[in-house]
Amino acid sequence: MLRFIMLLTLLAGGRQTVWASWVTIAPMMPWPVKVESIPGSLAIDGSFTAVVTACSDARMEGAVARLTAKISRQTGIPMGLTKPADASRPTLRVECAAAGPTLPTLGEDESYTLDISADGALLKAANGAGALHGLETFLQLIALGGDGYQVSAIHIQDKPRFPWRGLMLDVSRHWMPLAVVERNLDAMAAVKLNVFHWHLSDDQGFRVESKLYPKLQQQGSDGHYYTQTQIREVVEYARNRGIRVVPEFDIPGHTQSWLAAYPDLASVPGPYTIGRTWGVYDPVMDPTLDATYKFLDAFIGEMAQLFPDPFFHIGGDEVNPKQWNESARIKEFIRQHKLDGPHGLQAYFNQRILKILEKNRKTMIGWDEILHPDLPTTAIIQSWRGPKFLSDAAAKGHRAILSSGYYLDHLSPASMHYAVDPLAGPAADLTPQQMALILGGEACMWAEYVSSETVDSRIWPRMAVIAERFWSPKEFTDVSGMYARMETVSRQLEWTGVEHRANYGPMLDRLTGGQPAEPLRVLADASNGLGLGPRARTRKYTSPIPLNRFADAVRPESESVRLLELAATSYVLSHDAGQGAMLREQFARWAANDARFQPMSEGNALLQELKPLSKDLAELGAMGLKILDYLGGSQPPPPDWIAAQNQELTRIQKPNAEVTLAAFRPVKVLLDELARKGR
Ligand code: ACM
Repeated sequence: MLRFIMLLTLLAGGRQTVWASWVTIAPMMPWPVKVESIPGSLAIDGSFTAVVTACSDARMEGAVARLTAKISRQTGIPMGLTKPADASRPTLRVECAAAGPTLPTLGEDESYTLDISADGALLKAANGAGALHGLETFLQLIALGGDGYQVSAIHIQDKPRFPWRGLMLDVSRHWMPLAVVERNLDAMAAVKLNVFHWHLSDDQGFRVESKLYPKLQQQGSDGHYYTQTQIREVVEYARNRGIRVVPEFDIPGHTQSWLAAYPDLASVPGPYTIGRTWGVYDPVMDPTLDATYKFLDAFIGEMAQLFPDPFFHIGGDEVNPKQWNESARIKEFIRQHKLDGPHGLQAYFNQRILKILEKNRKTMIGWDEILHPDLPTTAIIQSWRGPKFLSDAAAKGHRAILSSGYYLDHLSPASMHYAVDPLAGPAADLTPQQMALILGGEACMWAEYVSSETVDSRIWPRMAVIAERFWSPKEFTDVSGMYARMETVSRQLEWTGVEHRANYGPMLDRLTGGQPAEPLRVLADASNGLGLGPRARTRKYTSPIPLNRFADAVRPESESVRLLELAATSYVLSHDAGQGAMLREQFARWAANDARFQPMSEGNALLQELKPLSKDLAELGAMGLKILDYLGGSQPPPPDWIAAQNQELTRIQKPNAEVTLAAFRPVKVLLDELARKGR
């Protein structure tokens, strides 16, 4: 028997026809193309063995060794000590038709099939890439059954919808040590992502060792950068997990760290220092000077050796034309070359950079601002400003990838990202040939508001949901099932090494100054974190400001509140006494929490800002209890009571202390029901 997660699905089709049903979903994410459940199961015990044929190279052997170690850690069973009864019949046989390319390659065959029966598991793939993905699926299926750990019998046929499935990580705004990168690569592999886009330079830090221009890392960073040896290590680490590494060196804007080291590259004489605040800076490179191209020619040549992937990201976003517009010399250059203003100058720059890249056998990729009639269609466009830029690029013959709608740093709910499809919106009107130019997508993790301690919790588990959008069939859009699987996969992801769950408790604990953290945890569990926009509007952040406050610990999306909202919706339909009691218990906890929180906040500067939030949570709890009383009793609420509560809810749902109280949602569901009943 498959060990299924039971989940409550609410299917809405008009209010009267809303009903609840128990459905069974296996915890796979991304969901495979074809899944057939079969009776029976394969036991996972100490005799577990796996063999690889045809693609049995160091990469596959390493992957099997990691798989075995993970199984051992999950099950607590020592592996490799017990010999299988029949050595010719391993538990898992991996058969590839061929080894495939040595380096992960855009468009390579990533398909696989997985057949599991009581007798064993057979994973078949066209080449190593598909086999790596199949191993991750196998791992997701291991679960505790009646007789211990097992994998349910199943037939899976699987292949990705898009060949480009990425995560972009900014390591400039806040430094991300090597361990952060590597643990995220492990988690990426677990959900079949295949591109790690490494945003290696920006105004606030240049993060790669250049031997040709060592001042880049010496003066362009705060001492935190990757050595070339470490870069090679990451590229190899990623390769072993089927992941391409695409470096990004953002030019000609977002370059203040370069200019701090080499001010001659700037459009206006320096000196410059690395940025310490967020936003778009004035300083940009000077595209009119041959010396700029001489420098970039040598630099790109050096980096082209370091990064084997054929794609090279040149950024190109948010180029502030201020310095160009204010320079008589640069304006004259624009006039003489008949360029269409600053954007034409950027296009001129990009054409020269493209030639340098071609010389190094690299294909240009850049943010959507690089799109210009003069840009050769070989350049790939990464759309971040909206889906229109994606379809425009494809309509003009460029290959393109979508990032708009996948900004993890905005801390949007998983359901929002899940609903964004690279081929929806304006892309749906493209011709099939143009649509084929859309390679997939990338989620973006910008690092203004994350540190190495919090970054994982801003990437995971929502990244897994986006990975499913990039991999699984378009039709796979059920949100309740997605959330249920996301929660299970989130637990499993943590075993890969990412710390998206692990740091929550200790961060809250640290804020208490040594007191029991429970009241703070109740408040945090009831809150949703806020992203870049609202945080920037609340206070002026600079890079030395530690990201150690309540807003940094709080998760992007409260799972407990999401479940409570479902329970409230279900209660409205069924008036189930058990649901009612559960809601009452939770509301009572919120109502009582403020009395516990206020004393712990005394004299604690880090908790002062939370006092009004805690009061609001108590109010929500009390309101929820009162609404349940009215819903369950014969007395209607006094006139205007509902309107007054709605007014309070409108106030309470506004950002406070750089978070929002997600807890208002179940209360609102019940209040709306009370209003409906009164009509
Ligand atoms: C970007 O978000 N500026 C690419």
